[in-house]
Amino acid sequence: MVFRQLIRRPGTFTRLSVVAISLATVVSFTYFAATYLVARDGTVSISTYSSSLTSTGSKDDTTCLNPYAQKGFVWFSDKRDESNTTWVPFYSGLLNQKYAAAWNEDGGPVEPVFNADEVYSDDQPPSEVLGATPHKWMQEIERLHLLLLKGSMIDEDGIRIDHPGKNTELTVDEQSEIKELEQRLYWVKDRRIVILSDSVERYQHAFLCGRLGQAPVIGPYGAQTTTWCHVPYLNFTVLHWHLSSTTTSRPDWWWLSEMKVVPIEERWEKYYLPTVNLTIGVNGKSPDMVIFQSSLWDHRMFTESRRANKHEHGLDLHRPLNWRELRFYMQRIRYIVGLFRELYGDDFPLLYRATTLRREKFGNVGLYDLGRAARFVSHELDLEIMEFGQLVQGYEQFYFDIVHIGKGPLSVLWANMMFWYLFRALGGVEVKGQLLRMPDESGPYNLIDNWNVCHDVYMNDPK
Ligand SMILES: *[C@@H]1O[C@H](CO)[C@@H](O)[C@H](O)[C@H]1NC(C)=O
Ligand SMILES: *[C@@H]1O[C@H](CO)[C@@H](O)[C@H](O)[C@H]1NC(C)=O
Ligand SMILES: *[C@@H]1O[C@H](CO)[C@@H](O)[C@H](O)[C@H]1NC(C)=O
Repeated sequence: MVFRQLIRRPGTFTRLSVVAISLATVVSFTYFAATYLVARDGTVSISTYSSSLTSTGSKDDTTCLNPYAQKGFVWFSDKRDESNTTWVPFYSGLLNQKYAAAWNEDGGPVEPVFNADEVYSDDQPPSEVLGATPHKWMQEIERLHLLLLKGSMIDEDGIRIDHPGKNTELTVDEQSEIKELEQRLYWVKDRRIVILSDSVERYQHAFLCGRLGQAPVIGPYGAQTTTWCHVPYLNFTVLHWHLSSTTTSRPDWWWLSEMKVVPIEERWEKYYLPTVNLTIGVNGKSPDMVIFQSSLWDHRMFTESRRANKHEHGLDLHRPLNWRELRFYMQRIRYIVGLFRELYGDDFPLLYRATTLRREKFGNVGLYDLGRAARFVSHELDLEIMEFGQLVQGYEQFYFDIVHIGKGPLSVLWANMMFWYLFRALGGVEVKGQLLRMPDESGPYNLIDNWNVCHDVYMNDPK
């Protein structure tokens, strides 16, 4: 397996140089890139479906291609096997290469006409396409978890058992699988992630924790304030800080009596800061990554405000937002980013997560407005966007109520995306499903240096 060659061995290079292929070259030669071989001198040869190309990269070169920023579609391999769900990017070349599934041997389309008498079935995409989908980290972490449990190497709380006996439950193959997985997943160890968002993310966070055997811990003021989970054998902690819109006060018309503290400034002091010790990663200053988003609460807040102040009965969720609302929201998003910078400094990756919509077809216009406004602010503040909300648009069947995306294939997608970004922050490079570089085992990890390798390219990804 390629990743084995990439794991740093003592005495070899610390930074595997990655091939310098211009995107244009990637497009024209390597849509089918199935194998990347990285030699010790950093030479990368790429064998492709139709041609091969060898290139010597200097050590500062890298290939920046974010699969989740490409156009594509969500592929559900099998509803019962949700962990295989993946984003399938449509990489350039799909239409103009001699493409195994879409074109016949003479270069003509396999399906020149639509067969009106046939049901187009759920065939899986061709292996070259599936092979280029983003790495399924969640599947591997879950597999490791399951094997460690099976071998009594961790207890039910995920705590390592010091002398696990002879692991008689494990076959020889499973024992070596554990070794392989631990070697591949070492970079997940000791990580800290903070997510400031609404309950859409709180649920995704809980599903992630649940898959690793951890029910989230609920902070002293309830789930709508802080929750977190810690996976002991990985020393991996993800916290969720729950926000309640960007408003600056708690007006009398606030519709949720149990939400006592509303403005982010107050929530910051009262709820979030007491958990800050849990958020600090190995750099001693900040988490390894922060993900941030606010929109559903803002939409509701603007709508409730209008109802209260105009003495109307119903909630008008169909109303587009107006200039003053959007201006207010934008400057508050900027303010919240500032709070993070003040707390943790600048040396960590901060991502804005794209807005998710309501399940109903109606009542989303304000969310589209906010989503576009947040994109603008992110762009102005040089923040990349985690496109989750964009990728899952339309999958209402996986919502479990009017706003929340349920446990299932889309939560696997969410988790894999999160790990894709974390992998990158630790210096990993993945291109078209291939792990071109693993994070250095020995660290130290300079998160922002790693992040910045591809940051400018990703800021210019088409949206
Ligand atoms: C799901 O992924 C696993 C592990 O990669 C693989 O063995 C299995 O065949 C996949 N299942 C489907 C339905 O594709
Ligand atoms: C966080 O840790 C520091 C240093 O260990 C300690 O002084 C401080 O009291 C802790 N803060 C909280 C809120 O636990
Ligand atoms: C767990 O991770 C934290 C944060 O990265 C680190 O400070 C701590 O030393 C780690 N603990 C162990 C036992 O490695």
